[in-house]
Amino acid sequence: MAATKTYLTGIQTSGMPHIGNYIGAIKPALAAADANTTLYFLADYHSLNSVKDPARLRQDIRSVAATWLACGLDPERTVIYRQSSIPEVFELATILASVTAKGLMNRAHAYKAARDRNEAAGVAELDAGVNMGLFNYPILMAADILVMEADVVPVGRDQVQHIEYTADIAKSFNHLYGESYAFPIPEGAYPEGEASILPGVDGRKMSKSYDNHIPIFLPESRLKKTVRRIPTDSTPVEDPKDPDTSVPFQLLAQFAAPERTADVRKRLEAGGMGWGELKNELFDVLNTLFTPMRDRYEELIAPGSDLDDILAAGADRARARSRATLAKVRTAVGID
Ligand code: ADP
Ligand code: TRP
Repeated sequence: MAATKTYLTGIQTSGMPHIGNYIGAIKPALAAADANTTLYFLADYHSLNSVKDPARLRQDIRSVAATWLACGLDPERTVIYRQSSIPEVFELATILASVTAKGLMNRAHAYKAARDRNEAAGVAELDAGVNMGLFNYPILMAADILVMEADVVPVGRDQVQHIEYTADIAKSFNHLYGESYAFPIPEGAYPEGEASILPGVDGRKMSKSYDNHIPIFLPESRLKKTVRRIPTDSTPVEDPKDPDTSVPFQLLAQFAAPERTADVRKRLEAGGMGWGELKNELFDVLNTLFTPMRDRYEELIAPGSDLDDILAAGADRARARSRATLAKVRTAVGID
């Protein structure tokens, strides 16, 4: 029997996910749950580095959890939990810090980028504005992954270095203590090619940081407005149009059934279909897909919903794993 693998990923709790996150992260992660052990958690302590407003953080945690559940995450099959519910993560982060070279952290992209920004701005203290949460970020992330003994970590390409660091840190630990206990070395699973990168309404990659994104659960009227406002050129309705340079068409192609996409492509290329009509098609496709999920989302974020119970049950299941790992790790290092 082929052993099933343990898939684990962490989701930052900063704002409602957008339709690019849906295509690039949520949909593939849900698909992986069919054949593997899956643990998906809310990286709320990671988000604390950027979110300093408690009311907002509280709301974002619920919103992100509700989004995944509404999009089809089955909590019976996938363990969904909050990072902050797993004390062993933080205990392991301390142990891992003792086997991690500071030089490795000095070379981390996010930390280096912060120093480069200071240098470019002529700030003498290159570490100005850098807190220890940012500096230690990769160690906490390694603890998230290793405490659950994950094999595969599906993430975006921006996370490659973090996964490499996790493997490096695990190897340092295994080198010292491997006779007693060795972590499985995890690998990243990255989206293939450019095909699954969604453009935002301005044509650049859709991203919260560019503010060009379409949140998944916009109310219907706002979704319609957002789609209608996507900029298009002034080609007259009757002229032929190039679908491949059109943002609404590229979005449509990710969400519509292949026959519908092919039909729209033909009508654009032949001429006679205006951008307005294309946007109506796009709105219809998005609204039809997301309306039932939006209804479930609204239920889940309402006070008193079963959201908190689902997260508590997930935390119990996750802790069974994290406790077992920590018992082995503590024995290995001599703190038992
Ligand atoms: P953002 O850029 O909006 O802050 P994140 O960096 O938090 O998004 O990305 C979270 C997940 O969603 C990652 O796995 C990433 O690969 C995926 N993702 C983000 N933007 C897109 C996009 N435009 N198209 C496809 N996937 C995306
Ligand atoms: N750093 C990840 C991101 O920004 C979030 C994250 C935290 C994570 N811990 C993790 C991802 C562990 C995978 C595994 O998207």
